[in-house]
Amino acid sequence: MQDYREFLSETLISEEQLQERITQLGAEITRDYKGKKLLLICILRGGVNFLVDLMRQIDLPHSIEFMAVSTYGVGRRESTGRARISLDIDTDISDRHVILVEDIIDSGFTIHSVLELLSARKPLSLEICALLDKAVRREIDVPLRYTGFVIPNAFVFGYGLDMDEYYRNLPFIGVVDLDKYKPDNI
Ligand code: IMP
Ligand code: MG
Repeated sequence: MQDYREFLSETLISEEQLQERITQLGAEITRDYKGKKLLLICILRGGVNFLVDLMRQIDLPHSIEFMAVSTYGVGRRESTGRARISLDIDTDISDRHVILVEDIIDSGFTIHSVLELLSARKPLSLEICALLDKAVRREIDVPLRYTGFVIPNAFVFGYGLDMDEYYRNLPFIGVVDLDKYKPDNI
């Protein structure tokens, strides 16, 4: 695999900026959900870094769950429009206030499918907290209650977001130069 520095065209959001904004989001959620039975549902795998940092900034008792959804595989850079739920939650949400924790909203198809599935289970409330919003790319309207950053139309990686499943560990969000990126086994 390549060193990410070979194809990083710019750092879009630094580690400090990410952590500062996540602290603010945590404070907002803490205010909004006081006294409510809160459940954060992380969408794997991209949402995991965000969940772990966000939950530590929420000063309320709450529980967490994980769901895995895939809309595109290695080598693809766009949603197909059909999301496949490959891991479902194990908690009855009918007495919970649910926040979906997602890394990025692009076309909106992925989160839309998750919203449909979960709203059928009648949670007390259901909101979305997305770290990144690629707003110009939206094809289906989704209500975002909490947004970290609105970003331009570029393919980004790091902080949970992958390039063909790698580089999720980086603590910042980078923009990839697709001319310099060499996919490994595809
Ligand atoms: P959507 O269904 O088009 O909204 O796609 C959302 C999913 O695509 C996200 O959960 C990410 O996993 C992935 N995705 C979209 N844009 C990017 C990107 O720029 N970098 C990495 N993953 C992305
Ligand atoms: Mg994702």
